[in-house]
Amino acid sequence: MGFPKDFVWGAAASSYQIEGGATQDGRGKSIWDVFARTPDKVLMGHTGDVACDHYNRYQEDVGLLGTIGAKAYRLSIAWPRVIPEGTGAVNEKGLAFYDRLVDALLGAGITPYVTIFHWDYPYPLYLRGGWLNRECVEWFAEYTKVVVDRLSDRVRHWMTLNEPQCFVKFGHGDGLNAPGLRLPMSEQLLALHHALLAHGRGVQVIRARAKTPPIVGWAPVCVTHYPATGSEADIGAARSVFGGIEKRDLWNNSVYNDPILRGAYPEDAYRVYGADMPEVRAGDMETMRQPIDFIGVNIYEGTPVRAGADGKPEVVPRATGFPTTAFRWPVEPESLHWGPRFMHERYGLPIYVTENGLSSMDWVSMDGKVHDPNRVDFTRRYLLALRRASEAGVDVRGYFHWSLMDNFEWAEGYRQRFGLVHVDFETLKRTPKDSAHWYRRVIETNGAALDAD
Ligand code: FCB
Repeated sequence: MGFPKDFVWGAAASSYQIEGGATQDGRGKSIWDVFARTPDKVLMGHTGDVACDHYNRYQEDVGLLGTIGAKAYRLSIAWPRVIPEGTGAVNEKGLAFYDRLVDALLGAGITPYVTIFHWDYPYPLYLRGGWLNRECVEWFAEYTKVVVDRLSDRVRHWMTLNEPQCFVKFGHGDGLNAPGLRLPMSEQLLALHHALLAHGRGVQVIRARAKTPPIVGWAPVCVTHYPATGSEADIGAARSVFGGIEKRDLWNNSVYNDPILRGAYPEDAYRVYGADMPEVRAGDMETMRQPIDFIGVNIYEGTPVRAGADGKPEVVPRATGFPTTAFRWPVEPESLHWGPRFMHERYGLPIYVTENGLSSMDWVSMDGKVHDPNRVDFTRRYLLALRRASEAGVDVRGYFHWSLMDNFEWAEGYRQRFGLVHVDFETLKRTPKDSAHWYRRVIETNGAALDAD
């Protein structure tokens, strides 16, 4: 069986993490430019000012996608590059960059999958309240319109928001990501409510204005609990945690996906967040719930769950010395089987894995190559698990490895290397890692190479 024959093999990256060119050609400031300059927020004061200098080296990077044999590339647009103040005047030079990038990709036979918002929120709009100001919904719609008007003659695949869990919770609750706020739950939920409305308006704008028939989704974190064994009891336990809200934080699936796909906040949300739930105005749920074509799932790890003695789900402790990545994230291949499976089961939509990968301690060896056996082994295990999901009937359409190249890993700066391609951040030299060559064989064989020793 294997993967479907037109399976989309790709790699992903995002604007702030790779572009650099922070003051070039009229780009405005994002909340990440400011956050990175706030003492003690980002490792060693790293910023995205230069990053991979993709803004100036995009042609070389499209060439790297060619080396990998990628059929698709997931990129994001920098809102402050396109509309420097967030609303109002459009920056022609910023848009022209995305023209060039899209044209280069299409010229190389690589399909662009465009994320409209991957966290680099315009700083001037943050000063006007950002996601807490209900006007943000229309700011996002206006920005989406500018992007869609410009690129939709060539771009067909769109994602509205990347990982609302992270920009809402880490950005507005824990203060770990930009804009670094630590707000009470009621305000985090208000930011979420507005983000969901923005998603809905974004979808409306894409559908109303696209010049070629659009294929639209979004890319939340897929918070994955998976069954510790194949028993029906454990599968049921994992499924209930997957769709439920266990904790009074914003790390779950249903408070994000239920409104946009089912048209209502889940009952669990009212039980767990109670009076902190946002006011839902007339028409809000209709705005959020726009027909979309796929769910993008970002999955790096998962948590094993079993049915406890009292029938309640319980987390299974991991073995002493369990494998982890350089980020100390657990290696959990089963998450790429059960995450897409439960997501598809709950919402019934086609699934793309829009991010999956790992950071590891990669450097250029004396032979001039970058040997990253852990990335090969990790990806192989995860892709075999994904293939099992596909063979079990889950409608999985594609896989985007995070990331095309080492980049600015948010609060961790340049310490975490997620790339298939190594970047020397002093010289900006790119070196495809062993995993890039290995991934090429996987792509060429539509996954059959995963079975080779
Ligand atoms: C995800 C982000 C992405 C990248 C990976 C490692 O949370 O969407 O930008 O940083 O993690």
